[in-house]
Amino acid sequence: SLPRHLKIAILSISSTRTFENDKSGLWIKKQAKKEGHDVVIHQVIPDDINAITEALEHIIGRIVPHAVIMTGGTGISPKDVTIEAVRPLFDKELTAFGPVFAQLSFEQIDSAAILSRATAGFIKGTAVFCMPGSLNACKLACSNLIFPELGHLIKHAK
Ligand code: MTE
Repeated sequence: SLPRHLKIAILSISSTRTFENDKSGLWIKKQAKKEGHDVVIHQVIPDDINAITEALEHIIGRIVPHAVIMTGGTGISPKDVTIEAVRPLFDKELTAFGPVFAQLSFEQIDSAAILSRATAGFIKGTAVFCMPGSLNACKLACSNLIFPELGHLIKHAK
């Protein structure tokens, strides 16, 4: 049987959002709870490689959630460094997540889908997802890919 009640961390990457107006993070939190999961932390971290690395290592090392769901900073502007911070930490990258998400995004928003470098992977047994900052992108990824597959992913990673 699949694990159903999981510990989820939410990490929004943005230098302009605050905890209170982090629409994407707050939506993920609400949805994760509806799915029966425990949201163990929700943080907003600025677009800074060291800040992102430190926050992620702290969460994975100390809080040890089953999954970290990240939003923002996956784009191509100089400030977008989420992927640069996270990818070197992956033990295994979920290489199909990015392409499948990009295809769904292409159907949702058209060619701007290629502006995101969204990806996912495992760090010390924790599943980590990097999605764009947009609320619609988070809804698309969480509802169609992350929440439907999370129990299965966690089971296989053991
Ligand atoms: N994907 C989906 N599904 N929905 C969106 O609104 N926005 C695009 C792209 N992918 C978007 C999306 C845009 S405009 C950008 S700039 C990139 O994601 C990167 O966003 P980020 O830098 O906030 O991560």
